[in-house]
Amino acid sequence: MKKLYLKIFAKYYDSFMTSFEAKIEDDRKNMLGKLKGKVLDVGSGTGVNFEFFNDQVKVFAVEPSKPMLDKSIKKVKNKDIELLNFDVNDKKLHSILKENSLDAIVSTLVLCTISNPELALDNFKKWLKPNGKLIVLEHIHSDKKFKGLFENIINPFWKVIGDGCNLNRHTDELIKEKGFIATKESYFTLGMRIHKAEYILKYN
Ligand SMILES: C[S@@+](CC[C@H](N)C(=O)[O-])C[C@H]1O[C@@H](n2cnc3c(N)ncnc32)[C@H](O)[C@@H]1O
Repeated sequence: MKKLYLKIFAKYYDSFMTSFEAKIEDDRKNMLGKLKGKVLDVGSGTGVNFEFFNDQVKVFAVEPSKPMLDKSIKKVKNKDIELLNFDVNDKKLHSILKENSLDAIVSTLVLCTISNPELALDNFKKWLKPNGKLIVLEHIHSDKKFKGLFENIINPFWKVIGDGCNLNRHTDELIKEKGFIATKESYFTLGMRIHKAEYILKYN
């Protein structure tokens, strides 16, 4: 049953996201186009980020859903993108991604879904080089009282139709609690409240 659900989710994901994606396309372009070195694309989904990576990066695209990963294959084109069918919190990933090895980690629309975002952020801290960057484009809980309440109420239903996506996570706060410092950050609303930011690690 879960397999069928993931297939259907992957099949319709890009069409469902078309109008939302048109509004954040420039954000993706600006945040990702300048990256260099080794980059982890966390929960790479159908490969929406791939077209924005330049030729100077080696990308590790980590995605636990096989149907999503399969859909992303045709977006790899001739770029240096390695597709890895893993949960980002799978211990086996540590034999591929070594400590202090990544120049950047890209987290777009994914910390809302990862079942243990705290552990994921701990892993990010291990994998990033001391001067590495965490690039974030995430939807977060609304700061408006009634909208926030509405998101809380519909969250159990949304989670079921959205492959585990949560509308009410305070992902921005969690990232900062975990010791990341924002070097650039902004908030805007596109139906949901969006947090766009670049972070470095506190010990820099
Ligand atoms: C809403 S999609 C976003 C995909 C892509 N990052 C983007 O910006 O279009 C969320 C993705 O996160 C993946 N995901 C969920 N839990 C994950 C985990 N524990 N580790 C890595 N990816 C995960 C899902 O399978 C899904 O493909």
